[in-house]
Amino acid sequence: PEPTLRDAYKNYFPIGVAVAPRTLTGPEADLVRQQFSSITPENAMKMGPIHPEENRYFWKDADAIVDFAVQNKIKVRGHTLCWHNQTPRWFFTDADGKQVSREVLLARLKQHINDVMGRYKGKIYAWDVVNEAVPDTGTSLYRKSKFYEIIGEDYIAKAFEYAHEADPGAQLFYNDYNTENASKRDRIYQILKKLKDKKVPIDGVGLQGHWSIYEPTPQELEESINRFASLGLKVQVTELDMSVYPKEHERRARKPTDVSEFTPEMEQKQVAQYKMLFDLFRKHKKTLTGVTFWNLSDKYSWLDNFPVPGRKDHPLLFDENYQPKKAYQSVVTF
Ligand code: XIL
Repeated sequence: PEPTLRDAYKNYFPIGVAVAPRTLTGPEADLVRQQFSSITPENAMKMGPIHPEENRYFWKDADAIVDFAVQNKIKVRGHTLCWHNQTPRWFFTDADGKQVSREVLLARLKQHINDVMGRYKGKIYAWDVVNEAVPDTGTSLYRKSKFYEIIGEDYIAKAFEYAHEADPGAQLFYNDYNTENASKRDRIYQILKKLKDKKVPIDGVGLQGHWSIYEPTPQELEESINRFASLGLKVQVTELDMSVYPKEHERRARKPTDVSEFTPEMEQKQVAQYKMLFDLFRKHKKTLTGVTFWNLSDKYSWLDNFPVPGRKDHPLLFDENYQPKKAYQSVVTF
């Protein structure tokens, strides 16, 4: 019989999965317990869900996820403390609806990071502190988010400093997608280099890993791992999934009915691509300290609604019935 993911990778790195409250009971929980050594809340610790109003936190879902991990001796990766998406409007505005000052926003960011990290201190081994701060195209290093516009570029350094104060034992990550794109990789590198030069407490960089059966190439991925490692940073793949659709197709097809079938050709490409990725991850085990899948099985993936609403995707290692796909075999046998 094949080994489980957690056993196959015991001497390499934890294998994680993004979870929601529904993942903590029934067959989904059984599969998580059997296969994975780490979990990440898919949404429960983001600013909006966990901190809906200035003086009110919603801890229920996040607590349940952390409790499940503690009970089952599974690690937790926290996600995420500072992001332009899923952040409530109140964060950036005062009681009159006016935009707050730099000082007020920094104070709010500090309070938020301190409260959320403090609550789970010692139970979350790594945190995505800042998420997606770099734009996809252009020459600008910084996405024009509210954090950037109100605070300035040092909001990133500040977030890491607050995070280190809140839980000095946690590993702190910068997390982003499209990290294999040469221009974006370069701009992320420049920001990380500035942080390192200024002795900002950052331990690693998360490659989200929202990839497809066509990309990235091993060369592109290896270049990213080596580039970030050259700064003395650890690398984790934090949101791995593998769409069966090429990007080009996403631009053309906007109808959910266009395609949905998992064809033998797609399957064959997916098996090969997953094998390539994990071969490379194992080769880089000194630098690469974690791999987390973004969702558990093809029964539900966020890609079923992104970027084309209602278009079914087939991006994970387990099928709609929670059974291991062929790609699973190519990952656990080596
Ligand atoms: C996604 C979740 O999977 C969805 O449920 C939610 O509606 C939107 O966010 N990059 C990230 C993740 O860092 O937080 C996102 O998760 C996927 C892209």
